[in-house]
Amino acid sequence: MVQKKGRIFSGMRPTGRLHLGNYLGALKSWVELQDDYECIYCVVDVHALTTLESVQDAKAIVPNTNEMVLDWLAAGIDPNKSIIFVQSHVPEVMTLHTLLSMVTPLGWLMRVPTFKEKLRQMKANDETVNYGLVGYPVLQTADIILYRGDTVPVGEDQVPHVELSREIVRRFNKIFGNTFPEPKVKLTESPSIRGLDGKTKMSKTLNNHVELALSDDETRKRIMSAVTDPQRTHRNIPGRPDICNVYSLHKIFNERKVNEIEQGCTSATLGCVDCKMDLAVNVNKHLAPFRERRTALANQPDLVQAILTDGAKRARKIAKSVIAEVRGKMGL
Ligand code: TYM
Repeated sequence: MVQKKGRIFSGMRPTGRLHLGNYLGALKSWVELQDDYECIYCVVDVHALTTLESVQDAKAIVPNTNEMVLDWLAAGIDPNKSIIFVQSHVPEVMTLHTLLSMVTPLGWLMRVPTFKEKLRQMKANDETVNYGLVGYPVLQTADIILYRGDTVPVGEDQVPHVELSREIVRRFNKIFGNTFPEPKVKLTESPSIRGLDGKTKMSKTLNNHVELALSDDETRKRIMSAVTDPQRTHRNIPGRPDICNVYSLHKIFNERKVNEIEQGCTSATLGCVDCKMDLAVNVNKHLAPFRERRTALANQPDLVQAILTDGAKRARKIAKSVIAEVRGKMGL
């Protein structure tokens, strides 16, 4: 057997169909890593509950999981190479979460930038924010180390979480003896994709995203709504590609023509409308094989369920032995 470089663990919240940010920041590298690493990919459904606003959100978890796993498979995640499963199907993660919470200072959690940002977005305060949201990175740490993951491919927004995981692991190992590897982040070439507003990161919550599974026409409409250089109020005013998000997407999807686009923009010979139209054509071209595979996979109704059932069985075997070791070390 070929010696693998290590064990990958990564996860995504079941938000339904994925967008270009999820793909370029994480999923693309998940696919590429499958040959060199043992890979475990998880649908983190319990994390989705940390921002639950209504029972409708809870009811959406299962259909959203199905949509998301179809995207994973269509992108090239192979259940014969990787373990694909749903977080709550391996309940040992809840046990490890509770045990890790005993060695995690509250101050570490309160300082996490994503936590502060969520509080701002939700207009929450000490009285309304739930305990589960504060513990989000502890559960994320439990995810990774329950499977002894040592490498975590994620987008840039997740770096502070993994840094915290390293600190929790260091503390656990110091108190109870060397048990877990310190997980390291693995970033892609484009770890932070901006949304169509050109300002903030691409995200479904902000509705500034482009879903991978849209039709060509829907993709074109979304891209045509993208904000370009705000100073370029007329076609004859030269643009600044270095600050334009449409240009940064051309660098990814239209590599061959990127110098031409830059020249056209800075000399005002290429207008933003034509520039976006060209981007849409290239995004559609890039995603065509993915979309074809996704349609074929969606026509197999029990496929995702069967893959997730098998994945949970394989994941649970690892989880049980790790939990037995942790219980012993913690005197339980
Ligand atoms: P989530 O579900 O928000 O995002 C899934 C993955 O997509 C990446 N991503 C982006 N990358 C670049 N540009 C963007 N605009 C963009 N938007 C999303 C994210 O960085 C992520 O890699 N906390 C995690 C889920 C999680 C996890 C874990 C990850 C739970 N347990 C254990 C790794 C290991 C999250 O909410 O990702």
